[in-house]
Amino acid sequence: MTTNWYNNAVFYELYIRAYKDSNGDGNGDFRGAIEKLDHIKSLGVDCIWVMPHYPSPLLDDGYDVSDYLGVHPDYGDLDDFRAFLDAAHARGLKVVTDIVMNHTSDQHPWFQAARQDKNSPYRDYYVWSDTGTEYADTRIIFLDTEPSNWTYDDVAGQYFWHRFYSCQPDLNYDNPQVHEEMFNAIRFWLDLGVDGFRVDAIPYLYEREGTNCENLPETHDFLKKMRRMVDDEYPGTLLIAEANQWPEDLLPYFGTPEEPEFQVCFHFPIMPRLYMVLKKGDKTPIVDILNRTPAIPPGAQWMTFLRNHDELTLEMVTPEERKWMRQQYAPNPRMRLNLGIRRRLAPLLDNDKRKWFLLNALFLSLPGAPIIYYGDEIGMGDNIWFPDRHGCRTPMQWDNDRHAGFSTAKETYLPVLCDETYGYQQVNAAAQEADPASYLNLTRFLIGTRQSLAALRSGQFVWVETGNDAVLAFRRHVDGTDGVLCVFNLSDQPQTFILRRPRVDVLSRPEVKMRGKVGLRPYACHWFRN
Ligand code: NOJ
Repeated sequence: MTTNWYNNAVFYELYIRAYKDSNGDGNGDFRGAIEKLDHIKSLGVDCIWVMPHYPSPLLDDGYDVSDYLGVHPDYGDLDDFRAFLDAAHARGLKVVTDIVMNHTSDQHPWFQAARQDKNSPYRDYYVWSDTGTEYADTRIIFLDTEPSNWTYDDVAGQYFWHRFYSCQPDLNYDNPQVHEEMFNAIRFWLDLGVDGFRVDAIPYLYEREGTNCENLPETHDFLKKMRRMVDDEYPGTLLIAEANQWPEDLLPYFGTPEEPEFQVCFHFPIMPRLYMVLKKGDKTPIVDILNRTPAIPPGAQWMTFLRNHDELTLEMVTPEERKWMRQQYAPNPRMRLNLGIRRRLAPLLDNDKRKWFLLNALFLSLPGAPIIYYGDEIGMGDNIWFPDRHGCRTPMQWDNDRHAGFSTAKETYLPVLCDETYGYQQVNAAAQEADPASYLNLTRFLIGTRQSLAALRSGQFVWVETGNDAVLAFRRHVDGTDGVLCVFNLSDQPQTFILRRPRVDVLSRPEVKMRGKVGLRPYACHWFRN
């Protein structure tokens, strides 16, 4: 089996704006993030994914790029970016950045030139229509705000196509010049030394009449071309696909051994089912989705996550499941956004450490490269009253100083949380350092234990029958070894499990050998080994 660094890696999702403000302007920046790299390193992660850091009007928090070759002035400049990269590399941390290829900001000079002049070479960088009636079978993603994927532009005198906000016109991949522009952006950041990219929103690059405009063959052809360029010019670069799709539609994004596309793809459908099984106390949804997940090419990897900077997306569940999830996890309508739920991990789990530990242990022992979203390692909360997805993007809570030690500014880009349960006085990294049972130290323990076990990092996966829907069990093992037996009691009732061979539990008392009938407390989880 081919093993590359990313096959075994744990990732950390970093929002620069939220992390640490070094110059007192109320926004986190690269210099600030450098000060906090030791915190990231201490978690035991291997790679940082930096959310978009480009110049941008920030109407979609940087996913609306207005210059692919720069750094947002609030976050620093290219020297600061380089210094961040060097400081991360010096600590053995890799860095991947976001590249937003599907669309630009409407403030991008390409769009500005395009809308002003029909004959400009930039006009054809975007997708236009006189009627705004084409591609009617295409779903709308930002359902709460966008009535259509077409918006009329007065200046251009035509409609332009956009899969996300109307301030994010889609690029036209039928124009080879657009390929070159993107390749140049990729080259620019690779020349600076980034280790790879999380490629945003890749199913939507092309439009074709009579289709749903997702996962089209033309998109795959382009992605193969992109991978060829990267492999030829920058071998070893990691490309991660962000495609919110069903497993069978995700598989083609790995490409074939002869014509690869991405080494790693996010596995979206696993995520909501992790929450489902916990609430139901029934493992069936996760068993079904893993059984539905096809084998991936050698050297490829899934990427798994519990939360990220977006709403907890419920696109990859049935309408009935979505309704149920929203009833269970978003009882207040304000918690709902588009098809999903705008809450953070700890509040979703009622700030119950047993549930939090179980869900983390489960996702850290499934196949795939896990990502931790900044702040979730200390059990940060959210503020559902902020617009859009901002409630899950508040400043990192470092200590109980003013603005949680995030900034010395009078005002920060978003207020720090200060509610009774999740406010920075209660939840902050400094206070958690000393407590062995804090979220922070449990995160370190779980990641460290996982990374110390080859079977969990990269072993094969086999279901273990428990005869009980509330008890989920599987074994991960590297060829020929016994590996690690992972057992989870998903319910709030005690259960039992039969251990056929003597084993120790590395999550609780690694010195005590157990065998035979083992009692499982509510929400218990065990990683058993010989
Ligand atoms: C996916 C990103 O995760 C999300 O935050 C963004 O709004 C859309 N892509 C559009 O770029």
